[in-house]
Amino acid sequence: MSTPIVQQWHKPLDLDWVRSQFPSLRQTVNGHPATFLDGPAGTQVPQRVIDAVRDYYEQSNANTCGAFATSRRSDAMIASARTAMADLLNCSSDEIHFGPNMTTLTFALAHAIGRELQPGDEVAVTTLDHDANVAPWRALEERGVVVRQVDIHEEDCTLDMEDLRSKITPRTRLVAVGYASNAVGTINPVAEVIRLAHAAGALAFIDAVHYAPHGPIDVRELDCDFLVCSPYKFFGPHLGCMYGKREHLLRFRPYKVRPATDALPDRWETGTQTHELLAGLVAAIDYLADLGGHSLANSSGDTTFRAGSVVDQRAVEAKIARREAILAAYHGIRHHEMTLAARMIKGLVEIPSLRFFGISDPACFADRVPTVAVRLANRTPLEAATFLGERGIFTWDGNYYALNLTERLGVEKSGGLLRIGVVHYNTSDEVDRLLDALRELAARGT
Ligand SMILES: Cc1ncc(COP(=O)(O)O)c(C=O)c1O
Repeated sequence: MSTPIVQQWHKPLDLDWVRSQFPSLRQTVNGHPATFLDGPAGTQVPQRVIDAVRDYYEQSNANTCGAFATSRRSDAMIASARTAMADLLNCSSDEIHFGPNMTTLTFALAHAIGRELQPGDEVAVTTLDHDANVAPWRALEERGVVVRQVDIHEEDCTLDMEDLRSKITPRTRLVAVGYASNAVGTINPVAEVIRLAHAAGALAFIDAVHYAPHGPIDVRELDCDFLVCSPYKFFGPHLGCMYGKREHLLRFRPYKVRPATDALPDRWETGTQTHELLAGLVAAIDYLADLGGHSLANSSGDTTFRAGSVVDQRAVEAKIARREAILAAYHGIRHHEMTLAARMIKGLVEIPSLRFFGISDPACFADRVPTVAVRLANRTPLEAATFLGERGIFTWDGNYYALNLTERLGVEKSGGLLRIGVVHYNTSDEVDRLLDALRELAARGT
């Protein structure tokens, strides 16, 4: 067998190439270069995503399953979007379905699973999660389902695994947990959570929305039952996507209209999809593959794996090639992002009036993504975000729907947290600009 591409990677990301792909990064604000540290709320998109959406409208715009050219092209494009997502997550394309966003897909699944649950059955959720992985399960309380909430360790915002073990009982039917926290960046030990859920006979539902731009996902290796993510967080359009094990997608009954097919994967997709955005999704995933291929070619002098080459290969080979290229991309992304995160966190914790939430010990950085949350004394997160925004630095303030967490940390009533989210197109200059601005704000006092 050939050596997987990911093991051959040893060069840093070609950041000039990366940034040249994203036209929006060239913006300025009040004379300052725009610094996009708002990735956790949605990332920027490469030019090819914009082109793919436009091309769809120009060449394929139609509804599905018609006996004419544009409809056939739409069908083919949707099939290619499923294949691309299947390569990203490592599953079969009929285990992928799309929707407007993760929240809508999760409510729909929770409703479908809820049909099978009895009063007294239990679901476990966590304090660390976005409310989109809490509220859909809490909605089942109307049917008598008991929802148990797993706590965190407050000092570093990691999941309390002892508490999790105690909250999985013989009545537990599903454990819903995030892969990574969108508020403080903790990576949860999802493989262990899935193992514990299965040992109790429960299903494991993973919210990978925040993890997807930062690390590779392998649903087969994880053995999760369901996994959701949102392409607009990983350089694609505003969409949601769900993986489900085939056996579950066949067994549970979605709410659907009668004429719609009961075949997989369509039975889980209600109504007409946003075809143009699915076209953009294919381009986003091919961007990731090309990032892997480009950087590999860059490091070895081998140019056979250039942009665009993956999509032209025969089906099986292309699938393996794209998956391997995606893994290579994530390898480079992870290295670059965590180099920036280390620089940023070191600078942040040295600011005297700043309180840092989450993992700050470099020895534990394997357990975080480069999303951080802070507060400055005597400044609300909104004031800090506004100050930064005027300097062209885009951050986020509030709870970003991680409401359980901001309540648990006692910051909800005073404006939540200031979230700074690095992704792979950010630079060390941008991190330094952020640190300078925060130092300036902190030095101003009240
Ligand atoms: C971790 C996490 N889960 C779920 C969601 C909800 O995703 P969507 O906007 O696709 O419904 C978000 C959005 O910010 C998120 O960060």
